Amino acid sequence: MKAQPYSGYLRRAVPTPDPELTQVGPESPCGEYIRRAWQPVAMLSELGERPLALRILGEDLVLFRDRSDRIGLLHRHCLHRGASLEYGIPMERGISCCYHGWTFDIDGTILSTPAEPPTSRIRDTRCQGAYRVHVHDGLVFAYLGPPETTPPFAVYDTARAGADAVPFAIRMPCNWLQVYENTQDPVHVVYLHTRISGAQFGDASGADQEIEYRQTPLGMTNVQTRRWGDHYWTRCTETILPNCNQGGAIWEAADKRKIFQRAAFTRWMVPIDDTNTLVIGWRYFSDDLDPQGLGDRSKVGRQSIDFIGQTEEERSYEERQRQPGDYEVLVSQRRIAVHALETLASSDQGVAMLRRMLRKNIRALAEGTAPVPVSAGPDGLLATYVQDTVIPAPPAAEAKLERERLARVGKRVADLVLASGQQPAAERRDWIDTQLTGAPPEA
Ligand code: FES
Ligand SMILES: [Fe+2]
Repeated sequence: MKAQPYSGYLRRAVPTPDPELTQVGPESPCGEYIRRAWQPVAMLSELGERPLALRILGEDLVLFRDRSDRIGLLHRHCLHRGASLEYGIPMERGISCCYHGWTFDIDGTILSTPAEPPTSRIRDTRCQGAYRVHVHDGLVFAYLGPPETTPPFAVYDTARAGADAVPFAIRMPCNWLQVYENTQDPVHVVYLHTRISGAQFGDASGADQEIEYRQTPLGMTNVQTRRWGDHYWTRCTETILPNCNQGGAIWEAADKRKIFQRAAFTRWMVPIDDTNTLVIGWRYFSDDLDPQGLGDRSKVGRQSIDFIGQTEEERSYEERQRQPGDYEVLVSQRRIAVHALETLASSDQGVAMLRRMLRKNIRALAEGTAPVPVSAGPDGLLATYVQDTVIPAPPAAEAKLERERLARVGKRVADLVLASGQQPAAERRDWIDTQLTGAPPEA
């Protein structure tokens, strides 16, 4: 087909978005797939003595803490006549609906129906819908899948890598997939975050990069390798299926040798419904991750984080137009990005690969094959693959040779990072260092 100027009229129709990857409500194939993994649903700090109304995967829920300090996650509408339990009263045990006083335990069991005669059998025959919860490092997780397939709760090795984990939760008014697949679009870092909006995450991010995409036991990672001054910097930005992502230091200066430096954040793109997403996780703080002290943990929390371009509230519309960030590009792809209108190109290999992996798993589950959770190691930690490695570089060569070197460094670091998943978490860095020192890829 030939390019056709002034063709607006011919392209005025907007097709419907891809339902298989973007619809997440109850019984949708994608929603069912995401439900098979533990999902963070709130920061623990948001849960006071009053119940918290939540909407997750198109389902209205209420999170509460009873007076015995137990946390429950119930269907929001009372099974009696539907009043919202966000107006319920936390009891010594469970929560009481404000309308007729029916009281539900954290597992949904009816504890009392005070307006009914003592002979009533309702409590033996009905249960309020409830989900299991698990609190970890200041986040409340829930398992929203079939109870008989509850996977063990996995602690990622990045959560025990010596940094402080500070929870955050940011709402984005758009479909989950466009937020998620941005994490496998490393090319936008060079353009949006550096050359177009000015250096939002450090100058080194703007250097030309060689990229490859690798499958991991948990999903995939992109491997970005750049020259910065007299160093090579290889970054692995990780996708953990179905909807988690981990990234390296926000303002990586890439000016001194470092091996296998771990995540600056772990976050989940949790669908609220088809057109809203909760980006929730931990921002990690340590001197190694942020030697210049550019981060600010006091800014990390509800609808706020300490790096630019993640919310609408942080800047004026004019500022956001002049220096757009992730929020602007993600939310502006329409409430649900329409894949049929896209022009996927060579820079979208990671996006295409992620969509393929998601589609394959969604279809497999719909046909009866559930995702198999990867087990933690003997140390109780699940090996993940996010990292930054910076090694000294020889003097720059001519362009073609330099690109070959970058690719070789990236490949070697990625091979070692993937292989190191077999080592105990505490030994991975030294193991990679030994291998790299023994056979330097930059030679
Ligand atoms: S609606 Fe909840 S007790 Fe009646
Ligand atoms: Fe970004």
